[in-house]
Amino acid sequence: MTRNNYHNNNDNHDSLSHAASRACKHIDIGTAVLPQPLQAESLYAATLQREFNAIVVEHDLKWGPLLGEGQNDLNDIKCLGQYDFTQADIVVNWALQHDKKVKGHVLVWHVTSPPCLQQLTAEQLREHLQRHIYTVMGYFRGRIRTWDVVNEALAPDGSLAENIFLQKLGPSYIEKCFRWAHQADPDAVLLYNDNKVEAIDTPKGDAFYHLLADLKAKQVPIHGCGMQGHFNAAGTGRNRPPTPRMLKQQIRRLGDLGLTVNLSEVDVRTSRLENPVLETVAQKQIYHDLVVAALSEPSCDGIWLWGFSDKHTWVSHFYYDDQPLIFDEDYQQKPSYYALREAIASFGVGSVVGNGVLLEEDVNVHGNTWGHEWMQPEPEDEIC
Ligand code: XIL
Repeated sequence: MTRNNYHNNNDNHDSLSHAASRACKHIDIGTAVLPQPLQAESLYAATLQREFNAIVVEHDLKWGPLLGEGQNDLNDIKCLGQYDFTQADIVVNWALQHDKKVKGHVLVWHVTSPPCLQQLTAEQLREHLQRHIYTVMGYFRGRIRTWDVVNEALAPDGSLAENIFLQKLGPSYIEKCFRWAHQADPDAVLLYNDNKVEAIDTPKGDAFYHLLADLKAKQVPIHGCGMQGHFNAAGTGRNRPPTPRMLKQQIRRLGDLGLTVNLSEVDVRTSRLENPVLETVAQKQIYHDLVVAALSEPSCDGIWLWGFSDKHTWVSHFYYDDQPLIFDEDYQQKPSYYALREAIASFGVGSVVGNGVLLEEDVNVHGNTWGHEWMQPEPEDEIC
């Protein structure tokens, strides 16, 4: 993506969190945070302080990292219970010292759970899982009041994802984890989090809705949900970004279940569009229109980014080189930053909610589908 002529104004009054503070509803504008750059880079800390009113620990509060993943042998069951909260504490304490809300991420996620769990019997796993939830929530009680309890329990086709918890404890492990979390801290806000669930009328989007409706019907103590929002502007099929209408309607029916909804891990990959101008257009439109669509629903209380500077993004490690965030490598605002800020500011008292975004239709009066400038056609073989 080419460098655009950013106009650099570091006046706090124009920050994302300031725009959120003037909104007609509560808006968490949050980001994932890494302890290393927080301690080592003053621009990282300064941008975080200026722009965001909430943070989530990007990796160091997960089960494996808390047991010293990388240092300790997590194939040895003796590692269980050997917690080191140092890295997580660095981020959580910084946040509280700077008056930021903290969301705990994540108590139960098969991807970063210690591999030695495989050696346990079902009963032993049930015990260790319960103890893990009690231990971590107990340690942060009073500092972290909102938790992602379970993450990514659904497979791409909407079925329950095959993982150690499903294999050994059965489908009720999700319900059990929420009940244990509620026992561990009855005042905590408990969330279910998943990816590629942002669009209504898709297999995984519908499974997400039905999973949550089922938990609510069973009076499981669950208060809200997070839709990750790792958008890919060049995505097709299941990876195609939702239109504002699809996202808005998905959030509306979740809100009708009595749940809060947040976009929990937003980043926007564009490099596969292979046209720098289109990349900027697409990234701006996604950060603006999908955020307006989400916040236009009363149940949506937050927009959380999965990092904020292209200097520190998981995308480059997990996928490929891309610039999915709103600040460049020098912590300068990108066009997507102003697009996001404008979206939040459109909820300012007296502003016109929706900011002209196509919210109820996918096709506008001129017959153009949302995103037609950059949306990729479905590959031949994917056209049903
Ligand atoms: C990622 C972190 O960003 C990386 O630093 C880490 O190596 C792996 O996990 N969904 C989630 C997040 O719920 O926790 C993941 O975060 C990204 C996908």
